[in-house]
Amino acid sequence: MTPSWTRPIRTTRAALLGLITLAFIACEAPERAPLAPDEVPRAAIDFPDDWRFPADALPVTARNGMVSTTDALASEVGVQILRDGGTAMDAAIAVSFALAVVNPSAGNIGGGGFMVVRTADGETTALDYREKAPLAATRDMYLDDEGELTDRSVLGHLAAGVPGTVMGMWEAHQRYGSLPWEALVEPAIDLADGFEVAERFARSIRGSRTALELFDTTRETFLPGGEVPELGSTFRQPELAATLRRIRDTGPDGFYRGETADLIVAEMERGNGIITHEDLERYTAEWRDPITFTYRGYTVSSMPPSSSGGATMALMAHMVEGWDLAELGWHSPEMIHVLAESWRRAYSDRNQVLADTDFVEVPLDRFVSAEYAAERGADISMERATPSSEVGPGLEVGEGTQTTHYSIVDRYGNAVAVTTTINSSFGSKVTVEGAGFLLNNEMDDFAAKPGFPNQFGLVQGEQNAIEPGKRMLSAMSPTIVTNPADELFFVSGTPGGSTIITTVFQTIVNVVDFGMSVSQAVHAPRIHHQHLPDQLYYENQGLHPSVVEALEALGHTVQQRGGTSGDVQAIMVLPDGTLAAQSDPRLGGTALGY
Ligand code: DON
Repeated sequence: MTPSWTRPIRTTRAALLGLITLAFIACEAPERAPLAPDEVPRAAIDFPDDWRFPADALPVTARNGMVSTTDALASEVGVQILRDGGTAMDAAIAVSFALAVVNPSAGNIGGGGFMVVRTADGETTALDYREKAPLAATRDMYLDDEGELTDRSVLGHLAAGVPGTVMGMWEAHQRYGSLPWEALVEPAIDLADGFEVAERFARSIRGSRTALELFDTTRETFLPGGEVPELGSTFRQPELAATLRRIRDTGPDGFYRGETADLIVAEMERGNGIITHEDLERYTAEWRDPITFTYRGYTVSSMPPSSSGGATMALMAHMVEGWDLAELGWHSPEMIHVLAESWRRAYSDRNQVLADTDFVEVPLDRFVSAEYAAERGADISMERATPSSEVGPGLEVGEGTQTTHYSIVDRYGNAVAVTTTINSSFGSKVTVEGAGFLLNNEMDDFAAKPGFPNQFGLVQGEQNAIEPGKRMLSAMSPTIVTNPADELFFVSGTPGGSTIITTVFQTIVNVVDFGMSVSQAVHAPRIHHQHLPDQLYYENQGLHPSVVEALEALGHTVQQRGGTSGDVQAIMVLPDGTLAAQSDPRLGGTALGY
């Protein structure tokens, strides 16, 4: 018997939950042990000699539930909720609040995000809790008197959109939660009361130290005594703990009204920001239909607008399907060329056409159709790279960075993929005085000046211009894949700004086309192209020099990136039901199962 968490076990009936869970367990067939990590099948693939992550790494395996996040403390919170009888959704809500405490560079209550859900009975849905432009926002608010872009969309109070995370978690709980709300916020409060500083946390503060010194409250919160918190010391966030208690006790009213709202508005007034009580009270999160498309018989469900992730991935996947990548060979020049040419075209359309569909008309059905992809990809030549200057938009319309992703699967087969952000590392760098949390700088994801690049180099158009109440276009792509038998197969997602879509797509290609294990798929070096700038990027030491030469001979401008790209958290369901997970070693996250 496989219960679905669409089954309404509501908060008021929480006392029954223990019994119900026991009943589920009693009805289940005797448990089989999960595959040992070294029994997990993997592909015979070699990575370049100097590549930093091994091709024979072993995943974490478990039978009952799996949580993969960028931080060990957050993963522990999630897996404990699963052990306590919670579902993947309960764990997702608890992890979101925990990340807001232990991973402040990206985890947040001052930002927003997206969630893709697949219940055990096969229902898929998506939750959009992206920030919105404040009601006083104007199209040219980030331009100076000469019409030039300023840094105000990135730094300081004016950069913040109206936060969506608390409303998003509340909506998720209203629809799918089974444990009481209070029990899901409580672990974050415990962490805010104090957690032991690990290298991962210290490193993120150290890396952004100069920026964190720009605003007094931020400096006082994250550099206590003016110093990066010491390894092994206890890091306490009493103001954040108090904010979380208000959220625990009164739900969204603990954030969008009352004391927290007063503190946000006071912070805005201090720093010439524009978020008002009305903005906060009017904020809504929306349930949406995911973008669902097939790729070589697998079904991919990912985020619809206001994210560009699902639609752009559908377009690139349909174009790529015209080639047998496995035959071309993993990371052969030909395979990379096919990816780059499809990505260049898909991003060109993304940048011009996609935007918040609550505000502008988007030809979404055509965008994600195989027919359009066939037309769009028809001029891809295997002989030469098409310069991006020759790739205009194909569709007509009516006219140091940080994010974080986590993936969760529970013992019933429910899956949740969440990508959430305050945009840049530590967002706008503004901490709300008295409330202890950072505000996002998500407004920079709009086309602050259409036709000019944003911080990710994305050159976006009029469709994504600033309007009051509108959500800025995102690339975040929480994604769930089912196999040709319509069984849960793969959960994936990553941070990485404009590279998010290509990174998630590569994990899918790695497992579907090349039969990689989840560890190989995550460890593999990554490449990226986003139309403009006309450059094919690869991770440091991630391509063999002979492959770079061959790509250059085809006409690609190939560029090695300084650091790494992305922080994928992926879970694969193996044919015997074993859950195999890999947390990306690039940022040092942790997958935990039980
Ligand atoms: O929504 C987006 O597409 C961006 N705000 C994501 C930013 C991001 O991933 C930065 N992290 N690496």
